[in-house]
Amino acid sequence: MSGHGTPIPMISHPCGPLTGTAEVPGDKSISHRSLILGAMAVGETRISGLLEGEDVLDTAKAMRAFGAEVTDHGKGEWTVHGVGVGGFAEPDQVIDCGNSGTGVRLIMGAMATSPITATFTGDASLNKRPMARVTDPLALFGTQSVGRAGGRLPMTIVGAADPTPVRYEVPVPSAQVKSAVLLAGLNAPGKTVVIEKEATRDHSERMLAGFGAEITVEDTDEGRVITLTGRPELKPQVIAVPRDPSSAAFPVCAALVTPGSDVLVPGIGLNPTRAGLFTTLREMGADLTYENEREEGGEPVADLRAKYSPNMKGIEVPPERAASMIDEYPVLSVVAANATGKTMMAGVKELRVKESDRIDAMARGLRANGVTVEEGDDWWSVDGLGIGNVPGGGTCESFLDHRIAMSFMVMGMGARTPVSVDDGGPIATSFPIFEPLMATLGARVERV
Ligand code: S3P
Repeated sequence: MSGHGTPIPMISHPCGPLTGTAEVPGDKSISHRSLILGAMAVGETRISGLLEGEDVLDTAKAMRAFGAEVTDHGKGEWTVHGVGVGGFAEPDQVIDCGNSGTGVRLIMGAMATSPITATFTGDASLNKRPMARVTDPLALFGTQSVGRAGGRLPMTIVGAADPTPVRYEVPVPSAQVKSAVLLAGLNAPGKTVVIEKEATRDHSERMLAGFGAEITVEDTDEGRVITLTGRPELKPQVIAVPRDPSSAAFPVCAALVTPGSDVLVPGIGLNPTRAGLFTTLREMGADLTYENEREEGGEPVADLRAKYSPNMKGIEVPPERAASMIDEYPVLSVVAANATGKTMMAGVKELRVKESDRIDAMARGLRANGVTVEEGDDWWSVDGLGIGNVPGGGTCESFLDHRIAMSFMVMGMGARTPVSVDDGGPIATSFPIFEPLMATLGARVERV
């Protein structure tokens, strides 16, 4: 629902050491999937550690609109009483997914092979984002869709009454597209096959298996081949959502660039399809260690310890790593500005179709704060100024994008003068406790 409210201008002051423990909220990707698969199972799924950000709350509302009973028991404990695969009811109102591309694309997939019609909308950011990447493969199942020019929301999806399973090679590295096709495949008889050339986050595959679906994943010369057998009865689960590595990125990067810092970020999901940022930071020379490595709920987890790192160097981030850190490039660019030498980020065209055009949004804000950025269609580079040398003093537009707003707040912590954003409101979509949590560590982020 972000973007519906009045802008919240924010300022981040240079600060002293960040210290203590940062308990970041639950993983956004896993939270959406827990609610959606819970709604498609027969019986009651129990979820703990659910991210209670606006994006996920919009998905909870949507699941209720499709007939599932979704109950908030407080403190991240939720239950979902599912209606079974193919059991979705037709919503009697428009489904508003707010700011969430993941929410809308996964839900479109989940309803696409049931004989119901639903209309989807979102905020000004979501209504600009491309949906044809999802509706094109859904059409192969027999689903129809009508949206605005260029396949934009608002959009009406008419589910296939008699769906056929599909074989689909995902043309862009996108876990949302892959997941939409798999969720649609649940109610198609026979085998749905999805092929991805580059591995993207695999939470859907893991969770589908956990709910009892027949799903196999093979690494072949063609890429990752995922085969799902349709019409399973999904069995309700007990899910403990790990903390979000994409949210952990903010206190971690803040600690790296703020003098004297030592921050522990416990219980972070380190699924290899998500952990690319931390590998990259270590390659740059960050003092970032994994403590207490373990497995929780089928996902690798560790406590991250990040310390002030005055000697980081710019690197070329391998393009093949992009999918595993796609949401982290904005905050990486802030670290890059504090390193010495150039950081080159290539193979990142997808950044242009996120909640904002993230290359453009970061380039504008970095330049407004004295940092040199070069960019092309699918690459960008940041010239590092060395630790503590980012001038700051600029005001950045967040373009309704939570990660842009948080990245600039992190930049202010290690800059010479404060950094401002025109609207920090979108932060509530994924990290509703960002401000109090960063304040506990010693940051000085204020609303103005
Ligand atoms: C997500 C997939 C990624 C990511 C998004 C969450 C998911 O998007 O950027 O924040 O949960 O599947 P794409 O599928 O567009 O790469």
